[in-house]
Amino acid sequence: MTFITITVTMFYNCVGLFYNKLYLEKYCYLGSIIKKVMISNNQTKKITLYEKVAENVSRLIDEGTFRVGDRIPSLRKLSSQLKVSITTVLEAYRHLEDKGILEARQQSGYYVRAQYSKIISQPEISEPEISPTKVSISEIIRMIMRESNNPNIIHLGYIQPDPDLLPIHKLNLTLSNVVRRNKRSSILYDCLQGYKPLRIQISRRLLSTGCTVTPNEIIITSGCEEAIMLSLLSICSPGDTVAVESPVYFHLLLLLEILGLKVVEIPSHPRDGIILEVLRMVIEDYTIKACFTTPNFNIPLGSCIPDENKKILVNLLSEYKIPLIEDDENGDIHFSFERPIATKSFDKKGLVIYCSSFSNTLAPGYRVGWILPGRFKADIELSKNDINVSCIYKIFSGGNKNNPAKWRIFSLG
Ligand SMILES: Cc1ncc(COP(=O)(O)O)c(C=O)c1O
Repeated sequence: MTFITITVTMFYNCVGLFYNKLYLEKYCYLGSIIKKVMISNNQTKKITLYEKVAENVSRLIDEGTFRVGDRIPSLRKLSSQLKVSITTVLEAYRHLEDKGILEARQQSGYYVRAQYSKIISQPEISEPEISPTKVSISEIIRMIMRESNNPNIIHLGYIQPDPDLLPIHKLNLTLSNVVRRNKRSSILYDCLQGYKPLRIQISRRLLSTGCTVTPNEIIITSGCEEAIMLSLLSICSPGDTVAVESPVYFHLLLLLEILGLKVVEIPSHPRDGIILEVLRMVIEDYTIKACFTTPNFNIPLGSCIPDENKKILVNLLSEYKIPLIEDDENGDIHFSFERPIATKSFDKKGLVIYCSSFSNTLAPGYRVGWILPGRFKADIELSKNDINVSCIYKIFSGGNKNNPAKWRIFSLG
């Protein structure tokens, strides 16, 4: 829902402008599907003197007279300038403090605060073209890749932990110990599913996602991206169509292009995730072979969808027997007490394929990921390359000395 506000100036006095607001309420809920426009008129409510002062100060901040970090006029100064009492100014400043616009510093006065909600406002629901489309993104990605080592560019399209936050010394020590002790096995192929002790450690970690899986239900991969690639390979053939949330992690689009798959972008709400009504319509109108989503900390939105919506999504897709590929690469990067659960935890039919890795939490360069293939295990194993991951296993099974809990770099929970 979008609000367009038209402000009509009514009159003016020493503490500011009074105005009436016309609210133009525009329902663009499903993009091109439902459009309804409503106009309402909101009468000016009577505002008190301290609110007028607060509005005036707020306007000066909005217009740049006072910027973030600036000290605003003292109570005494503003009260004499506006010819109002010190108590009125104090009330106005407290009002702005409550709204997060000002902050009081002890024995120093009131200062303008950074208002993050103003700097980054919540994005609108995306409005993509809702029909199967051939993907052609490789040229843009090539351009981005060419600039990947340019220190003057901040890459917002993917996450990479700051190396200063990683336990580099411990990682290097462990790596050299493993290689020294396992001279032969560290360079040989491992079993198809990946090193079993590592799978045991991953199955323990997965409990926090709400998934109870045995090591036998896990396959080790070369990062999360290989896990996604294997999922797509096992379900789709060139020319098939995949429903993806919009916006989506840009490398997913590259994978779809490489595999010759078409995409239907589904509008997504930055808080509630994929719009389920649109997904259902798309499923009924087109042949959808798979659906892709990043329910926990989607890139680029960074949003985490409510558990209830995860459950409805899984149930909806299972009603139509459509596999869901879940990218939970960023689920461990949370700031709450508990990690958000995975959509896989609601899967009763083995139709959700869960993909993740240690790239964003431990060591991007090791490229160790995993997949919970559900009912597609046999097909996924068939297309998988063998890898050796004994070093990572050591890190996760080294007892207290190497307690991975202490190594959770971004997960503050
Ligand atoms: C959402 C998402 N999926 C996948 C990946 C790729 O993970 P990997 O490097 O383990 O292949 C990333 C990396 O940042 C990511 O943010």
